[in-house]
Amino acid sequence: MSESITVGVIGVGYWGPNLVRNFASLRDVNAKWAADLSTERLDHMRTLYPKLETTTNYQDILDDPEVDAVVIATPADTHCKLACEALDRGKHVFVEKPMASSSEDCRRMIQAAEKAKKQIMVGHTFLYNSALHHIKRLIDDGELGEIFYVYINRVNLGLFREDCNVVWDLAPHDVAILNWLLGNPPRSLTAVGHSYVQPGIEDVAFVNLQYPNNVMAHLHVSWLDPNKIRTITVVGSRKMLMYDDVSNTEKLRVYDKGVNVLPHYDTFGEFQLSYRYGDISIPRLDEGEPLKNEAEHFAECIRQNKAPRSDGYNGLEVVEALEAACRSIAEDGRSIELPGVRSSR
Ligand SMILES: NC(=O)c1ccc[n+]([C@@H]2O[C@H](COP(=O)([O-])OP(=O)(O)OC[C@H]3O[C@@H](n4cnc5c(N)ncnc54)[C@H](O)[C@@H]3O)[C@@H](O)[C@H]2O)c1
Repeated sequence: MSESITVGVIGVGYWGPNLVRNFASLRDVNAKWAADLSTERLDHMRTLYPKLETTTNYQDILDDPEVDAVVIATPADTHCKLACEALDRGKHVFVEKPMASSSEDCRRMIQAAEKAKKQIMVGHTFLYNSALHHIKRLIDDGELGEIFYVYINRVNLGLFREDCNVVWDLAPHDVAILNWLLGNPPRSLTAVGHSYVQPGIEDVAFVNLQYPNNVMAHLHVSWLDPNKIRTITVVGSRKMLMYDDVSNTEKLRVYDKGVNVLPHYDTFGEFQLSYRYGDISIPRLDEGEPLKNEAEHFAECIRQNKAPRSDGYNGLEVVEALEAACRSIAEDGRSIELPGVRSSR
């Protein structure tokens, strides 16, 4: 039997209850506490989990010596304060995406974790999704050939938020996915966006990112679109694929399609392309819930004292790209260079 881990969840609004449910479902994890400023939310949680201890003061969780780890699902601008306090009190921290509302805060959180010698993990859920793992394997094994470009659509009608724009709301997932699939953060980006509904809060944005090895990526994020679309398209020199997160069946299709330049030609007039229209395959995917995989991974990293797949540096790289996208939008699409955090670790 593995060492038991006790967790407390701070913030049980919309997303936090999913985290409570998944941590509670794990063997050898005790989801002991939930904290929220709203007594209504806490009453609701106690009806679902009668043994759950609840409090409106998160300090009660930090004061409990039985608690090994704190899970933070509050608004992004509270993440840094809550995470740093929990780390200073010797707790491991799982913090929802985006890691914080500024890169400066992310760095503070990383420093606090390193000082406390505790894990900090960011809730980049898609890094724990089986379809995305399949895509990553296809890329890493060279099945798609050289990767040319990737584009992601994450659009629907609403929910309009008042505390952040659409980039901070929807793009954290996509930048985390791109950085992980491509194995590096972007080198530079340009972005345009517009506020059509709420003055000063962009509801639509188009972000173009340049990754190492000439890989281009494009993100379209919007709260103002007729359809809910969640697609990722990867185009490689050998094969191409399309992932549709909304589809109930056949989420991932791998196309053996491409273009070859014929090797021998003598004059420009003889320059020939041959198009390849091969099979389309639909891989079988493991249907495990990504959030459960994510919760399990966090517990495993604590037990084995290893850095999570979505560690503080991943969280920082995502937030740096979001900041750069907002700067580019404010400066009419100017190209913004990014620091490439990994080299300085
Ligand atoms: N991984 C995902 O797919 C995913 C999906 C949705 C939301 N999220 C993230 O989860 C976080 C929360 O989002 P949400 O939509 O649930 O927000 P929400 O506003 O519905 O819930 C936040 C809750 O935190 C509580 N809270 C705020 N400050 C607190 C404090 N000091 N102590 C205790 N409770 C406090 C609020 O009372 C509220 O109930 C955000 O970072 C969001 O980006 C992640």
